[in-house]
Amino acid sequence: MSLEQLLAWIPPGSPDEALARQVNFDQLPAHVAIIMDGNGRWAAERHLPRVEGHRAGIDSVRDVVETSARLGIDVLTLYAFSIENWKRPRAEVNTLMTLLKRYLRLELGTLLKNNIRFRVIGRVDELPPDVRHELEIGIGRTAGNTGMLFNIALNYSGRAEIVDAARRAIAAGITPDDLDEQHFSDFLYTAGQPDPDLLIRTSGEMRVSNFLLWQIAYSEIWVTETFWPDFRCRHLLEAVVAYQKRDRRYGGIKQPTTVALGAK
Ligand code: FPP
Repeated sequence: MSLEQLLAWIPPGSPDEALARQVNFDQLPAHVAIIMDGNGRWAAERHLPRVEGHRAGIDSVRDVVETSARLGIDVLTLYAFSIENWKRPRAEVNTLMTLLKRYLRLELGTLLKNNIRFRVIGRVDELPPDVRHELEIGIGRTAGNTGMLFNIALNYSGRAEIVDAARRAIAAGITPDDLDEQHFSDFLYTAGQPDPDLLIRTSGEMRVSNFLLWQIAYSEIWVTETFWPDFRCRHLLEAVVAYQKRDRRYGGIKQPTTVALGAK
């Protein structure tokens, strides 16, 4: 993608435009993963029920998905519902599932328009049949798209993913001698996808909350105090600009710039 494609979508003269101009399009994170947090606190600040925070969070999802696609991000993963989230009150869980279904139904056109391929990561088989049905429609209708891959993590837990991968590797007859890190990652839900370069968490919490535990080994983490329902294009651009200033070493040392002595 290009600056022009992003600018076509951003109000001229806005802080978003200034940020967009700071992005280096040759050094974009290939995969951005987001822990969407703070919906409940956003609602509490407004004396609203918690579910209103989730409802407002859908606007942020919409904005971030389209901004990411226009930016040229290859993979976007949003953490929508963890295995642990089933412990929440039934009414809140039901609202989250309803919002998800409605999002998929209403936003399918946007996904198609932006050439976005939609996928789900998590224990999908354990989701209610009506939710699975809606997910299958979204996955099927966008399967031929060639642009950004949009993963929603649903009924997801990083530890459960690693256990599921180990089970699949055993079922596939992999022997201990065959197994290495690359081969093991082929059994994860994210097989074939690049690991997240950038992990964003909203609402100021400094935790990874069982999200993509294997894949975030070398991710750059960016935390904002902003609650998820207030998160917009501007925040994503801030995160990308901050990411591009990081010095990624993957456990090694910073390579000194080579100076060819004596070279003309
Ligand atoms: C965390 O806030 C947020 C969630 C558990 C759910 C996020 C889900 C959505 C925004 C809607 C559906 C998503 C998609 C992708 C369509 P919290 O409730 O833990 O907030 P708190 O920490 O302030 O209580």
